[in-house]
Amino acid sequence: MATRIERIRRLGLAVHRRGGFQYVSSRLSGVILPRHADAMPASWADRVIAKERRVNSRPWHEQTSDQGPPRSRFSIAGLNDDPTDWKLAATEAAINIEHAARRTGLHAADLLFDEAHRTASFARADRADLRHDTRAFETARNEDRKRLARDTGLDVLHRQRILELLQEERQKTEVWYAPIDFGRGIVAGGDWSTETGTGRWDYLNGPLVAPYVRGKRVLELGTNNGVGGLMMLKAGASHVSAIEYEVWFADTARLAQRIFSWADLHNYQLDVKQGDMRAILPAELPEFDVVSAYCSLYYLSEDEMAQIVQKAASLAGTLILQSNDFKHNGRDTLRRKQASTEYTRALALNNGFRTVDVHQPQGYPRALLIAKR
Ligand SMILES: C[S@@+](CC[C@H](N)C(=O)[O-])C[C@H]1O[C@@H](n2cnc3c(N)ncnc32)[C@H](O)[C@@H]1O
Repeated sequence: MATRIERIRRLGLAVHRRGGFQYVSSRLSGVILPRHADAMPASWADRVIAKERRVNSRPWHEQTSDQGPPRSRFSIAGLNDDPTDWKLAATEAAINIEHAARRTGLHAADLLFDEAHRTASFARADRADLRHDTRAFETARNEDRKRLARDTGLDVLHRQRILELLQEERQKTEVWYAPIDFGRGIVAGGDWSTETGTGRWDYLNGPLVAPYVRGKRVLELGTNNGVGGLMMLKAGASHVSAIEYEVWFADTARLAQRIFSWADLHNYQLDVKQGDMRAILPAELPEFDVVSAYCSLYYLSEDEMAQIVQKAASLAGTLILQSNDFKHNGRDTLRRKQASTEYTRALALNNGFRTVDVHQPQGYPRALLIAKR
């Protein structure tokens, strides 16, 4: 079998050694690529940082998705935007930008806040350390976050703090509804299942939903701890505005956004709004590409469900719904009817959508329905 280097040579590429790292250069493009993402030379990281800086110094509404803290795309009466201290959100976002370029050794003294755009950046990150070894990098970035928490007085997340916060969640009387596997050995929530949380995303929703949300703006209704919105962002959605009625659940969604952003070194644009989704009915909203409601519409009346779907049809070309055929199984309740796949499909078809694809593995209660206008 051809070795990797032989295969690279056959493709017309050449392997170089420089500064202890191997690089692959292309005769066609002349570009030099480090063979491993970890093996980033200073010049490479400088270019990444320079690009990040250029983008990050723009006003927030011109920034791309992974720059800075999540931003609200709209505000309307009855929906409460993120109460988190903006300096905390901006600081965590700035740390992620530096760490994504493998720069560690960040100090509070170098932190600059831009009050007008509610962003932050590190003034002297050019002089920060570059860490290539994954273990050394992980240790250094955790130390950075701990030091910044101590020196700024902000509740900046780091591994121990995340574990502490999730432990506190476990002790509360409210139930963490859907289990989340954040990666990096961090999990939250109770019984693991393919019916809720990241288990459901991996089992059913992920591969079906991803092609519809990549690069798109999503309005997510009844988000609970934000897992649906966050998994859509992980699948490449550019921005998710997520509405959740319960204050405590909305707070867990904001925490989940921060933990995923820490885990992936990417500032996921989940804009959590606490309040009643029915507030969108009379409101003027920006355009969305997709509206999603995973197992959340059937808490409304039949009439309200219809109105929300009509509103969705006026906002976006695609509506993604999740039903639940086992809701109140055995009992002939109205909720059971409204949650059913049959009812959900007819709901979309009767209220502004022309086609509905139903995805339901045999025996699985929560069908995924993708409706198109
Ligand atoms: C069964 S959970 C599903 C949560 C999430 N979509 C998921 O699939 O993991 C339903 C969620 O919808 C929320 N909800 C119910 N009625 C709502 C309303 N009128 N406005 C906003 N959220 C609502 C509930 O608080 C709850 O978090």
